[in-house]
Amino acid sequence: MTKTIIVGNRLPVKIHDEGGQLSLRSSEGGLATGLSSVHSGGDNLWIGWPGMAIHEDQQEKIVSELKGLNLIPIFLTEEEINNFYEGFCNETLWPVFHYMSTYAKFDPVHWQSYQDVNKKFCDKVLEHAEPGDVIWIHDYQLLLLPGMIRNERPDASIGFFQHIPFPSYEIFRLIPWRKELLNGITGADLIGFHTYDDVRHFLSTATHLLPIRTSANIITSEERTIVVESFPMGIDVTKFEQSIQSENVQKHIQTLKETFPGVQLVLSIDRLDYSKGIIPRLQAFDNFLTEHSEYLGKVSLYMIIVPSRDTVPQYQQLRNEIDQLVGNINGRYRTVGWEPVYYFYRSADFETLVSLYATADVCLVTPMRDGMNLVCKEYIACRINNNGVLILSEMAGASKELIESIIVNPNDIKEISSALVEALTMPAEEQERRMKQLRQVISKFNITQWVKIFMERLNEVKELQNSMKAKLVGPITEANIKKQFTNAQKRVLFLDYDGTLVGFKVRVEQAYPDTELYDILNSLIADPANKIVIVSGRNHETLEEWFGQLPIDFIAEHGAWMKLHTKEWETSPNLTDEWKKEIYPVLNLYTDRTPGTFVEEKSFSLVWHYRKADEGLGELRANELTSNLRYIAADKGLQILPGNKVIEVKNIEVNKGRAVNSWLNQNEADLILAIGDDHTDEDIFKALPETAITIKVGSNISSARYYLNKYIEVRKLLKTLAG
Ligand code: UDP
Ligand code: G6P
Repeated sequence: MTKTIIVGNRLPVKIHDEGGQLSLRSSEGGLATGLSSVHSGGDNLWIGWPGMAIHEDQQEKIVSELKGLNLIPIFLTEEEINNFYEGFCNETLWPVFHYMSTYAKFDPVHWQSYQDVNKKFCDKVLEHAEPGDVIWIHDYQLLLLPGMIRNERPDASIGFFQHIPFPSYEIFRLIPWRKELLNGITGADLIGFHTYDDVRHFLSTATHLLPIRTSANIITSEERTIVVESFPMGIDVTKFEQSIQSENVQKHIQTLKETFPGVQLVLSIDRLDYSKGIIPRLQAFDNFLTEHSEYLGKVSLYMIIVPSRDTVPQYQQLRNEIDQLVGNINGRYRTVGWEPVYYFYRSADFETLVSLYATADVCLVTPMRDGMNLVCKEYIACRINNNGVLILSEMAGASKELIESIIVNPNDIKEISSALVEALTMPAEEQERRMKQLRQVISKFNITQWVKIFMERLNEVKELQNSMKAKLVGPITEANIKKQFTNAQKRVLFLDYDGTLVGFKVRVEQAYPDTELYDILNSLIADPANKIVIVSGRNHETLEEWFGQLPIDFIAEHGAWMKLHTKEWETSPNLTDEWKKEIYPVLNLYTDRTPGTFVEEKSFSLVWHYRKADEGLGELRANELTSNLRYIAADKGLQILPGNKVIEVKNIEVNKGRAVNSWLNQNEADLILAIGDDHTDEDIFKALPETAITIKVGSNISSARYYLNKYIEVRKLLKTLAG
């Protein structure tokens, strides 16, 4: 039976040393808590770090203890904890991905350790993964892992999900090892983020930095199709709802109510982290007490800060600042019977958390940046009576779904302060109306649903990849094609030109037809049952000059022009080239900035050629140009076609697939053969009926049924068919 292997930096449990005795506790943080209820089914496994350095003598015992829980530990040395976890993960990636780049350190020693630890994870995954298993890798600590596994297991089914934001290209590019990181992530088949904005940032970053093609949310990297999508993570709502009924929780709720009679509670729960906006939140609470003295003695902030990464300097500093600020607020406002801020620097057990969620009148969640934020969803899950108010930062991924909360800018202290007043005075009916809607959202998109959708999509991506795999034309297939060919009476051969009938040359005009090609075409035409249609992106003048004398048909400029034998060249009706005025200057700008490139003008398209440009620079500029043009193009009904060292901008209606269909509507054929090497030829393969013999040149990733490696092999096949 196949299984799912979850791989995350942390296991859902961590080992704790209590005076030399090791014990297990639950891990904190959205990833561990969110997925903990998922991995236990079947033979599924979770591979990760148990949270502290374990002496070699004790490792074996721990391995066998965790085995019973389907958990496989990865042991990190003290040095790895320093350089990989605290260093590269939490002092480089975390601040950069949360837009706090001034906190980021770029230390080659940390980077080396990051690579080593990802390799350590890779070895462990390979030890356990069997054919058919699904490998699901989580979060920023393991960005290199998908690529590492892919190198060893090219066919593996690999999903990757990032739980923190993906920053914009301008921020991500600061990292010296940005390309290596992206190459690692794109080893996955499906890449998931919490929000569409993260997807957008990732796609734009990847197109800027890697030699890949993107179309909507699909990346085509040399050999594979990779899908990038948003999957907003949910929580185990039922678990929270049910636990409220438990005796312990009910007792705890009662105690809380008795402890704070007549006081409205505002709840705040986070890990110690500068991304959580704790300081501005305290400042806002301070402002609220100052400006609304009527609440003194009537409202308290109940704040739990869960210790986290406290060996990293910025976290230590944050802790000191929180201590000071809380002391300052309490010192100024405290009365004999009332405390403005109840502050706990420790983690709370599940039952305590649930009791707090169920009791608090308001939950205040104001991160500066947060991939999703689960605390706010947990609060909603516990409001089974449909009361209570959530105040939520617009910078949390969750704000995209939880639109019935009071949404605030976490930097706007006045706004948060007013939101508190609004929440504390909100009429019961309004609370109920909002809470019901919020509860509907989290119940529908719960954790089970999240896992299901991700897994289904990963399956679909694998199916898509398999359907894109063409079969090599070996001797048996060749004989089969020949047989079908001989049996047919009206054959049409749709042949692309560059890369299919001739090889590529540095200068486009040098790729003219040679004697051998003319001979092949002539011998095919000699049989009246054959009709040849050259389907090219080239301009019609060139095709006319090279082949005008032959009794063959043409589709030029990807379908903008057509010539059926004995008739004149014709363009498709209703095409305009008005848009060129705007696109030309953009292409010229890139030509000026990139030596060796030039713009070719065709009737209904403009082509930017970069074959002669310096290799790396050409790719880089091509990616930049593509993203630059994307928005203008969509507006004007244009399509951007990345080809072989060219980028072509053309009217969206012009398409080789439509053109061959139009030819077929006007002519009869009982056998269709189509051969092409380019992205644009895929439109032909897709447009033709399944019975057509479609052949891709140069790659087996195609919608075509078959493939050949080089144009030389195409010529050989055509000779066989003619002979
Ligand atoms: N949490 C916990 N122990 C605590 C307080 C909170 O395990 O003492 C959990 C909380 O229930 C939530 C998670 O930690 O599931 C925090 O996830 P969130 O996405 O809000 O933030 P993250 O810590 O992942 O940045
Ligand atoms: C966030 C990250 C997780 C991480 C958690 C706790 O939720 O997305 O990957 O595990 O914080 O942080 P820690 O450094 O304690 O693992």
